[in-house]
Amino acid sequence: MNDRIIPLIDVRQSVPAIPREKAAAVVQPGAGLLDQRGRRVRDLRISITDRCNFRCIYCMPKTVFGRDYPFLPRAELLSFEEIERVARLFAAHGVEKIRLTGGEPLLRHQVERLVEMLAAIPNVELTLTTNGSLLTKRAAGLRAAGLKRVTVSLDALDDETFRKMNDVDFPVAQVLEGIATAAAAGLAPVKLNMVVKRGVNDHAILPMVRYFHGSGHILRFIEYMDVGSSNGWCMDEVLPSAEVVRLISEEFPLETINANYAGEVAGRWRFRDGAGEIGVISSVTQAFCSSCTRIRLSTEGKLYTCLFAQGGHDLRGLLRDGHGDADLAAAIGDIWRQRDDRYSEIRKAATVANLAEEPGKKIEMSYIGG
Ligand code: GTP
Ligand code: 5AD
Ligand code: SF4
Ligand code: SF4
Repeated sequence: MNDRIIPLIDVRQSVPAIPREKAAAVVQPGAGLLDQRGRRVRDLRISITDRCNFRCIYCMPKTVFGRDYPFLPRAELLSFEEIERVARLFAAHGVEKIRLTGGEPLLRHQVERLVEMLAAIPNVELTLTTNGSLLTKRAAGLRAAGLKRVTVSLDALDDETFRKMNDVDFPVAQVLEGIATAAAAGLAPVKLNMVVKRGVNDHAILPMVRYFHGSGHILRFIEYMDVGSSNGWCMDEVLPSAEVVRLISEEFPLETINANYAGEVAGRWRFRDGAGEIGVISSVTQAFCSSCTRIRLSTEGKLYTCLFAQGGHDLRGLLRDGHGDADLAAAIGDIWRQRDDRYSEIRKAATVANLAEEPGKKIEMSYIGG
């Protein structure tokens, strides 16, 4: 599918040498691999399927992702062995965290086998983002295979709003059971991602906080983003995180806490009563590109240096053409060194100045993962 909408970039043609004047800034002895803005590569997010059993209105609207939507055929997918090879090369380049995403990653056949392979990579924390629909059955097996934590998407607690958000009539009770099972299996702390769409599920914010306050799970509120080209995003539907924090703190007084690590996506707040913490992910109102250490590997083996990229670098070609690890590592290094992305910062400036977005197809979230 995506070959039709994304201009393909072949890594062998698309990795010119770094301009000399920039190279000096990039190559800092001992600093590891740095991009054009001095950011290191720390997180690898791997999408293992472009399919999902939900049709969340902000991610895979049914009007676009209908019955005849051309999802990737099996032969196009990277095999587990190919994924593991790329992951090990990234670990050698300094990646410390790998997140499996989708689509819905638990739809990929025998994902536990892949988890086992990736969990064996030294010094890398392995996590997974899921919609939670299959967690009750799979949590124990995933934990046994070596998964450390899970992040579950959960957009409301009341069934009516939850079903409206997932748009496949999936009951919230099943996801809540999955979350409890995951925590009991040791995939903790469980993080819960709620995408907030103003006027659609913002009434669900306080009920979510009341329910999870003191539970040990970490609720995170994500500003609705303009990822992809199909969700019909507009700024009016974004509820700024500052408003979310204000709303919650009227009932549950909050105070800020430091990030767990430099470049953490979520801003952290803790309940003053000691009953845990929440996070806000403000990618629209407070872009965090300057500390962005993430790179994304698509299901079919393309590398994307930004969630909003319009094109990826084809690694699968190199993998299947019999190139050795040294070639692959060099290609990966070149891609990262050339990276100059800061889409959210640019979008913020354009929104403030009321400028129209540049035309062009962006990659869909369901294809590249969250
Ligand atoms: P942990 O700290 O390990 O839990 O990871 P995380 O904070 O990166 O959380 P997670 O991977 O669950 O990301 C949460 C959400 O933040 C994603 O689902 C996206 O909606 C958003 N997000 C994550 N990475 C980026 C990014 O690079 N750019 C933008 N604009 N949004 C991002
Ligand atoms: N804006 C913000 N977050 C999104 N996600 C998917 N689409 C969007 C969007 N348009 C989040 C989901 C999930 C993760 C995979 O990405 O809620 O937690
Ligand atoms: Fe919803 Fe996640 Fe599926 Fe997108 S990939 S439709 S956000 S469950
Ligand atoms: Fe990173 Fe791109 Fe997101 Fe900015 S918009 S934080 S560069 S992925």
